[in-house]
Amino acid sequence: MLKGKTVLLGVSGSIAAYKTASLASALKKLNADVHVLMTPNAVNFINPITFESLTGNKCLVDTFDRNFEYSVEHVSLAKKADVVMVAPASADVIGKIAHGIADDMLTTTVMACRCKKIIAPAMNTNMFENPIVQDNMRTLEEYGYEVISPAVGYLACGDTGAGKMPEPELLLEYILQETACEKDMEGLKVLVTAGPTREMIDPVRYITNHSTGKMGYAMAKVCARRGAEVTLVSGPTALKAPEFVKTVQITSAKEMFDEVTGRAEEQDIIIKAAAVADYRPKYVSAEKIKKQDPQGAGGSVADMTVLELERTDDILAYLGEHKKQEQFLCGFAMETQDLLENAHRKLKKKHLDMIVANSLREEGAGFGGDTNVVTLVTEDEEVSLGKMTKEETASHILDAILARMARE
Ligand code: CTP
Repeated sequence: MLKGKTVLLGVSGSIAAYKTASLASALKKLNADVHVLMTPNAVNFINPITFESLTGNKCLVDTFDRNFEYSVEHVSLAKKADVVMVAPASADVIGKIAHGIADDMLTTTVMACRCKKIIAPAMNTNMFENPIVQDNMRTLEEYGYEVISPAVGYLACGDTGAGKMPEPELLLEYILQETACEKDMEGLKVLVTAGPTREMIDPVRYITNHSTGKMGYAMAKVCARRGAEVTLVSGPTALKAPEFVKTVQITSAKEMFDEVTGRAEEQDIIIKAAAVADYRPKYVSAEKIKKQDPQGAGGSVADMTVLELERTDDILAYLGEHKKQEQFLCGFAMETQDLLENAHRKLKKKHLDMIVANSLREEGAGFGGDTNVVTLVTEDEEVSLGKMTKEETASHILDAILARMARE
């Protein structure tokens, strides 16, 4: 995913430095060319050999390393960097960069970079809250640096509060957001729906389906990485809300209807990956429904064994009917039989521009997994994509959407 990209990681003196090793490793696995620069203090917390083993590149510590062509190294690295992240960034390094002090390999290189610069502060809460540090971070933001808010939690010094460096997974998201995709969706507003809905029977029971939300979350994430302004309306899932996306959590089909239709007007693209319940209980009991034992010969329990249902509103059909000019509407159809016939029928009936059809019968497709096998169905075309990850599937769907939007 990051082939051909150069990522610089600046590591300064903080106990959180050990977490940066996982980040370096994750970046390397995504084929990035990773270079680590450490302040002299950082080597007290983690050995440069760790980073050298993980990245395959020499770890740069000191501008006055006589065994090394230091004079040009920081400039050439700065030139080829696609993104630089300082993680952990100590109060000292933040202060230096904010005031233009470049007295070691890390600070000189950061200062010479023209690419996006991301700072992940890590320090004791009192230091973090110190007005001088706060001022320095504001200064960095004014100069266009992105400062990631530290997490709140138990700190190595024994205090609990703000100052914890975010986990490597989150830091990786920031780097991917910057480098993983071309920003070909900049200026577009996209609404994505994901996950199942829950239709309450009583306070302890509900009707739902097997959707895990993975496909919709992948769509939202990739749209954001490509520069779109993304709103994700999600039913209950076990997934973490994606970064760089506005996530709206809902429970029922009715709530999804309200949240989606209320935002539809302003969207350029709407992608409905959610598995919305088609039916809900007609009556929702305010109290837990108690089971009833058969009452002997002639006794009836029919009332307790039949759940009366009513239809939910079809959100996509509503959006199709109220579609504004130039808005692109993409639905999903999961089928167990007659995949393409059903997809074409839904495309037409709901006035869609595209429907992504997948079969529950296909190996590698369907609920819960990390892969999918889909066919992109439009009025005049059927394009089958092979088995690929849900993120790759999302990228192909977006390529197809953008190509059709450009044509129309
Ligand atoms: N959908 C919706 N609102 C509903 C039901 C479905 O917006 N109440 C959307 C889904 O998000 C999906 C598409 O419609 O994008 C197709 O959903 P699916 O359940 O496959 O189709 P249905 O139209 O419900 O048809 P059927 O139940 O006959 O398969």
